[in-house]
Amino acid sequence: MNVVVFGAGYVGLVTGAVLANLGHKVSLIDIDRNKVEKINQGQPPIYEFQLESLLKRVISSHHLYANTEPSTEVSEAEVIFIAVGTPPLHDGAPDLDFVHQAAAKIGQHLNPRQNCVIVNKATVPIGSANLVEMWIEDGFMQATGQPVPQGTFTVASNPEFLREGRAIYDTLYPDRIVLGADHAEALDRLTTLYRPILEQNFEPPPLLNRPQGLKTVPLVRTDRLSAEMIKYAANAFLSTKISFANEMANICERVGADINTVMSGIGLDTRIGPQFLNAGVGWGGSCFGKDLSALIYTAWEYGYEPKLLESTRQVNDQQKKSVIKRLQEELKTLKGRRIAIWGLAFKPGTDDLRDAPAVGIIEELLHLNARVIVYDPVAMDNMRQQYAPWEIHYAKEPLEALDNADALVVLTEWDIFRQVPLQDILNRLKTPVIIDGRNIFDPNEARHLAIRYRGIGR
Ligand SMILES: NC(=O)c1ccc[n+]([C@@H]2O[C@H](COP(=O)([O-])OP(=O)(O)OC[C@H]3O[C@@H](n4cnc5c(N)ncnc54)[C@H](O)[C@@H]3O)[C@@H](O)[C@H]2O)c1
Repeated sequence: MNVVVFGAGYVGLVTGAVLANLGHKVSLIDIDRNKVEKINQGQPPIYEFQLESLLKRVISSHHLYANTEPSTEVSEAEVIFIAVGTPPLHDGAPDLDFVHQAAAKIGQHLNPRQNCVIVNKATVPIGSANLVEMWIEDGFMQATGQPVPQGTFTVASNPEFLREGRAIYDTLYPDRIVLGADHAEALDRLTTLYRPILEQNFEPPPLLNRPQGLKTVPLVRTDRLSAEMIKYAANAFLSTKISFANEMANICERVGADINTVMSGIGLDTRIGPQFLNAGVGWGGSCFGKDLSALIYTAWEYGYEPKLLESTRQVNDQQKKSVIKRLQEELKTLKGRRIAIWGLAFKPGTDDLRDAPAVGIIEELLHLNARVIVYDPVAMDNMRQQYAPWEIHYAKEPLEALDNADALVVLTEWDIFRQVPLQDILNRLKTPVIIDGRNIFDPNEARHLAIRYRGIGR
């Protein structure tokens, strides 16, 4: 099929590259010229496992190319995805400006004979499919002076559930595909587009083997409003699960229980399940906070007070702040202290710093006049660029960050950190203080080495 994707970020680029690898003809449209040039040279502008090799393959086979402006792409497309950003505004509502611009552009280039399915893949508030429809119609009217002829296009919803760091894997082997549309033909076309994934009959790319036993992927065919709501409900539930684990951790700390054992104990209950119960310094990333705020905002719009969701957010805010409190308890003043930070990205496997707990914690440390030395295997370049004025020292390897440091704070659970022996850490630190914000070390071993170890809920 001829596919166009507006927005070549984490979602658009990965979706485009995977669909191209399945044999579809994909054009990516992104307003960022720099990104477009990199993509056409086979260089991903973001870090994702195996994205570079996948991209090189689909560029060289001419299944994918990128452009800053559509020329004939939109008028020839059978399916157009909108995968542009929807960042939060100050009041928590998502900013739909990028979606509006993309929809208007689609309208301007729409071919009345094409019968195109336009798909919202960006996470947008419930009811946005109607808005996108209106913006496309406005764009068409602006370009032609005519209303869009009936049956020219349909807007559908296909929310995205990929996890950064595992984006290609999740796109190839999703837990489910959700399609929402008010016309059966639109659902049929999207089902056909995704058939190789639904039926799992494609050749897996190198190093991205199919999970054992995966034969088919569940498909949820529904209306647009329910599809849009599924995305928000999923992220609200996942962030609530983590905030629940953090709340339990805070109680565990007070009563002397160990959160890891407690969560393993409850996770064995099949009604609960073991995933997403890791206590730590809180969730972050471009989606959870933004989507939770957007859902809270939607509830308010309808006069409903979503108390559980508000608490999920509050627990997370408190959890991020608890790192500074723990440091102050161990070191008293933080003025002039050297604090080593391991991990900047909001989770391992990505260079994404959006809403990463590390950013707020570093900002607060600098505000308190501490010296900050950081190490992260992939996110340091982004930190240098995005927070250039901040006086941060960048270490070349994890242990170098510890030289003469008063404390080590672990904020991302990269595997390379787990592999460092505690004795090596102890040898380099000036004061033996570890705030293990991701519970990667063994507290008993730390105590045995006389390290002042503070995990979360242990
Ligand atoms: N990142 C994730 O893990 C994830 C997961 C699921 C859903 N989502 C949702 O998917 C959407 C995209 O997220 P992302 O992380 O890929 O964002 P991103 O910021 O990485 O990428 C968005 C891209 O859209 C481009 N863009 C903006 N306006 C445009 C326009 N008018 N025309 C063409 N391109 C335009 C930007 O230049 C950018 O490259 C968001 O709604 C997000 O909530 C993200």
